Amino acid sequence: MDFEKNILCIGAGYVGGPTMAMIASKCPKYKVTVVDINEDRIRKWNSDNLPIYEPGLDEIVKKVRGKNLFFSTELNKHIRENRIIFVSVNTPTKTFGQGAGKAADLQYWEKTARQILANSTTPKIIVEKSTLPVRTAETMGQILNGNNKNVQFDVISNPEFLSEGTAINDLENPDRVLIGSKETPEGIRARQEIVEIYANWVSHNRIIESNIWSSELSKLTANAFLAQRISSINSMSALCEKTEADIDEVAYAIGTDSRIGPKFLKASVGFGGSCFKKDILNLVYICQSYGLTEVADYWESVVKINEWQERRFIQNIISNMFNTVAGKKIALFGFAFKANTGDIRESPAIYIARGLLEEKAHIIISDPRALPNARDYFKDIQEDVTFEMDPYRVAKGAHAIAILTEWELYRNLDFKRILKSMAQPAFIFDGRNILDHNKLFKLGFNVFAIGKSPLKHF
Ligand code: NAD
Ligand code: UGA
Repeated sequence: MDFEKNILCIGAGYVGGPTMAMIASKCPKYKVTVVDINEDRIRKWNSDNLPIYEPGLDEIVKKVRGKNLFFSTELNKHIRENRIIFVSVNTPTKTFGQGAGKAADLQYWEKTARQILANSTTPKIIVEKSTLPVRTAETMGQILNGNNKNVQFDVISNPEFLSEGTAINDLENPDRVLIGSKETPEGIRARQEIVEIYANWVSHNRIIESNIWSSELSKLTANAFLAQRISSINSMSALCEKTEADIDEVAYAIGTDSRIGPKFLKASVGFGGSCFKKDILNLVYICQSYGLTEVADYWESVVKINEWQERRFIQNIISNMFNTVAGKKIALFGFAFKANTGDIRESPAIYIARGLLEEKAHIIISDPRALPNARDYFKDIQEDVTFEMDPYRVAKGAHAIAILTEWELYRNLDFKRILKSMAQPAFIFDGRNILDHNKLFKLGFNVFAIGKSPLKHF
């Protein structure tokens, strides 16, 4: 079959896989190929056991795989054959050298650019899908166009705003799609080609076109603003605990102001995920390199409050359990960084688990989707950690339960049965404020929630 357009995506991760599956599903006339250097990942994308859990993803992949969606490890071949190339490789925080701990590690990005260059003999549009420091397109252009091959490359910025757990809906009904390019005739022509792809299912008033630097910077800014709301509400949660105010009531009261809005005001044990911390620290590094110290400090405080909130949660557990958790069994309900994903990258649960292990607690981890990743995370750590899917078995004999992920199933457990099976006095630390605290207290639990007065029987 002859396809109207051929699209390639390099990087078959949490973004590349679902995004390309959505494009293939909405554009049956396009052939979409996703490539990755990770053979195991590609093998899983071609199997019934996809490499990531995302509600609704299996159905979409099943519908289009083998028809107009293909997964492959043959990078060079597909680079040669495709004119439109999305690049969605990982851009983690640098762990070495200059900028270590803050700057984005662009080695995978640059490697990809060089591989594209080496395999190109015809003009191409390169789409930045990964989250990148502002002005990366400039470097990209220099690598790609500083060649003597006489091949034209146009670099477009099209950052992704999907959230894990709701990725399919976010891709199908995006608040907006952002597409930035250079304001040259070639740049605008290339931008229009990318607009055309999304226009197959996204209305034009939701497709924002901008200059390329605004597009790159808007992605970092969006994540910084979202995370800042969480740190703001979490900072207030500490004040609520001192003053008998209730953080959920405060969040509701301020969220009804249409200028503030209700979303991203849920106090928690802290934000996790692969991007908020990395992207804010990247922003901090960029500001520092432009000498904007005050701006850098302002955004860095968002990450500092988050780390403090996680620390505070551990301290609360220890101080309320008679100042020691050594030898005590603590059940962790949830290990994913949020509900509806198996992803544990930067999950607050990792920090809490490690903090409790340092205090010599025995921890048992339960999670409906993240246990394989949790097991993998602890595989080299010879410590007191066990894993169990069933929350009732996890709680059996435990001194405390800590709710670390807001999975729906935890709201509907039989806590009377759980209480009976636990060591007494029994404690619940609700790091997601999802349980009925008064009901639990009446049952006999000692209940500690984020931003609420403790409910203790002693
Ligand atoms: P990921 O680690 O899940 O996937 C990246 C993939 O790129 C990996 O499978 C890796 O093997 C592959 N890769 C690396 N170098 C390669 C190379 N040279 N050639 C071919 N493949 C290569 O990462 P992700 O979560 O999909 O994130 C990708 C980018 O999207 C990041 O910049 C991230 O900040 C951004 N982003 C992520 C999310 C999210 O929810 N995870 C949302 C929006 C934006
Ligand atoms: C976030 C952004 O929401 C996406 O728009 C963005 O594309 C993505 O980062 C990215 O660039 O990677 P994601 O990390 O998948 O998406 O999930 P979120 O829903 O933003 O949650 C992040 C963390 O904040 C989770 O740990 C969540 O539990 C926590 N959170 C969220 C709160 O503690 N309170 C809230 O009110 C909202």
